[in-house]
Amino acid sequence: MTPVLRDSHNRVIRDLRISVTDRCNYRCFYCMPKEAMEWRPRAEILSYEEIIRLAEVFVSFGIDKLRVTGGEPMIRRDVEGLVARLASLPGVGDLAMTTNAHFLADRARGLKEAGLRRITISLDSLTPDRFALMTGRSDLPRVMAGIDAAVEAGLFPVKVNCVVIRGINDDQAPDFAAMAREKGLHVRFIEFMPLDNGKVWRREMVVSGEELRERIASVYPLERVAAESPAETARRWCFADGAPGEVGFINPVTQPFCGHCSRIRLTADGMIRTCLFSTVEHDIKSLLRAGASRDDLVSFILATIAKKEERHHINDRDFVQPLRTMSCIGG
Ligand code: GTP
Ligand code: 5AD
Ligand code: SF4
Repeated sequence: MTPVLRDSHNRVIRDLRISVTDRCNYRCFYCMPKEAMEWRPRAEILSYEEIIRLAEVFVSFGIDKLRVTGGEPMIRRDVEGLVARLASLPGVGDLAMTTNAHFLADRARGLKEAGLRRITISLDSLTPDRFALMTGRSDLPRVMAGIDAAVEAGLFPVKVNCVVIRGINDDQAPDFAAMAREKGLHVRFIEFMPLDNGKVWRREMVVSGEELRERIASVYPLERVAAESPAETARRWCFADGAPGEVGFINPVTQPFCGHCSRIRLTADGMIRTCLFSTVEHDIKSLLRAGASRDDLVSFILATIAKKEERHHINDRDFVQPLRTMSCIGG
């Protein structure tokens, strides 16, 4: 029987998110600042060898869902090679990637051939002006071509993540739903969380998933889709008229889902984060680079999982924003 990783709140950990770089070619203001970011020096970044060595240990503990993230993962050289090696680890049931899709049009098919199962694309606006405002770049046509290439390559389901910010892109929710229907996508709306580098987050900027769902349902009636697993972040809905695609609402601010959290994260510089909002990180890289045995790594991982936070404190008065932003953590 496969052993399971259980934390001290009785949650089973099945999902590892691996950030392969902290660099990104976009500058989404809710994530990274416009000014130059200070990247981690190359020597601090885990090599693919090191990532595979750690992933193998995690997977042997029943972690069967892997996600490759960044920064922008396709910036790192030959990420397809890493995908192929992760895909071949025995026990990996699900292998996904989160990307801004800038480089996807030419690479979707190669990623699929390497063993990637599915893909999640970050896209916050469907009009060029607002896209540029949110990302600092004017590459909307490239992203749209990336989405189409992902569908064509069969990276199913192709998910689109849209972080919603009041007054900036919330009016486009029905247009996103129309795109989901037209292209057969799973579009998920994410409540803006205080993980931004510029510290621009204000509660008034958060649009609740419920509000968005009502707005969309008034145009396209919706029907609830049952969750595949209790750990799922999104509440999912399909279209009552049978059109393809889905919409989902990831509501970490108004409806926290920490009670069923199954996720841990490995940063590009080799730290384990037991929560998106962790204020401490666990340095497995130093251990690895000091020549740790497999048993040493196993003990470290077990001790780290035991420290997983019960929940985030976004809604508490004593909330402390983590020092590292999404661009380092990977979403
Ligand atoms: P799948 O449904 O398996 O595709 O994964 P997922 O729902 O975890 O999706 P994804 O990795 O695309 O995450 C979507 C977004 O949800 C992230 O970018 C975060 O904004 C948010 N999110 C994901 N995991 C967590 C989490 O553990 N806690 C909180 N608060 N937010 C999360
Ligand atoms: N709040 C919510 N989601 C965020 N992301 C990045 N920053 C934030 C934030 N402040 C998510 C986006 C992006 C993924 C990598 O992380 O969905 O797609
Ligand atoms: Fe899990 Fe932390 Fe996210 Fe809550 S905030 S769901 S505990 S990672």
